[in-house]
Amino acid sequence: MNILVIGSTGQLGWELQRSLVPLGNITAVDYPDLDLTQADSISHWVRDSRPELIVNAAAYTAVDRAEKETDLVEAVNATAPGQLAEEARALGAVLIHYSTDYVFDGRKGSPYREDDQPSPINAYGRSKLAGERAVQQVGGEYYIFRTSWLYSTRKECFLTKVLRWARTRERVRIAGDQVGSPTWARTLAEATAGAVKLMRERGKSWRENTSGIYHTAGIGAASRYEWARKILALDPHPEEQILTELEEARSVAFITAADRPEYSALDCTRFQETFGLFHTSWEDALKQALSWNNT
Ligand SMILES: NC(=O)c1ccc[n+]([C@@H]2O[C@H](COP(=O)([O-])OP(=O)(O)OC[C@H]3O[C@@H](n4cnc5c(N)ncnc54)[C@H](OP(=O)(O)O)[C@@H]3O)[C@@H](O)[C@H]2O)c1
Repeated sequence: MNILVIGSTGQLGWELQRSLVPLGNITAVDYPDLDLTQADSISHWVRDSRPELIVNAAAYTAVDRAEKETDLVEAVNATAPGQLAEEARALGAVLIHYSTDYVFDGRKGSPYREDDQPSPINAYGRSKLAGERAVQQVGGEYYIFRTSWLYSTRKECFLTKVLRWARTRERVRIAGDQVGSPTWARTLAEATAGAVKLMRERGKSWRENTSGIYHTAGIGAASRYEWARKILALDPHPEEQILTELEEARSVAFITAADRPEYSALDCTRFQETFGLFHTSWEDALKQALSWNNT
């Protein structure tokens, strides 16, 4: 199977390259070689690699900057996924595309299911929702995997920031009123590979019947403060920490360009039932991510 992975140096794309290796011949590409804002660039890479599976892990993910760069964020997150879906349909290929918990407004107060009404409260969330709809409108064989609070150990993210702050500051304040499902990029990549295996085994009509949106994230929920505490507790080099006070704060204490949902944990039951795959709890995944032998 020829597989085109887009966004190959991102948190998720990097992990996908290794998780998908046993399943086919991978063409892995990222910006600037493939520029999702350029329709010609997308067509070139798709037609050149003739994929049976396109996995789009690329996105504009700078949530605050997105409030100002709305044209760019729309082009990458909303328009390009629609074109990828068209290219996939024309080739008879499967498209896997990722979306976000930030399509929700965060007012539900319990884990979101796929049939809950999206209502994004920031430009990034609006663009990702538009991308989902563009893919759905084209149809074909597609899977949209919504995930939440993605992290890795090799690229700047909440986890790497907390570990850095712990080494450079004595006091750190973290929001205790934003709750989500922390998701290690590697577990999402492995879940994706498991899902691809099943898609291939079950065949086209199964794929057509199961195409749609799935929530796939670390199991459980935590506030950013709880997540930070756990990161510090599992830090493989606690002796390097100079932090003495981790303070739970309210989000209003931090001025950010974009609003963020208060509660955006995801209910992953549909993914588990369809693919028979289970994410580990967010805490167990974090333990693995911060263990010595995760490279
Ligand atoms: N990060 C999270 O907390 C989070 C949460 C929920 C859902 N998600 C979703 O999960 C998926 C993977 O996220 P991630 O955290 O792995 O993303 P990431 O680390 O930010 O990687 C995204 C990749 O997309 C590339 N990209 C940006 N603009 C592009 C363009 N115009 N053309 C081609 N590539 C472009 C980036 O390249 P450059 O580095 O050169 O810009 C980067 O390599 C995305 O769909 C994201 O929306 C992420």
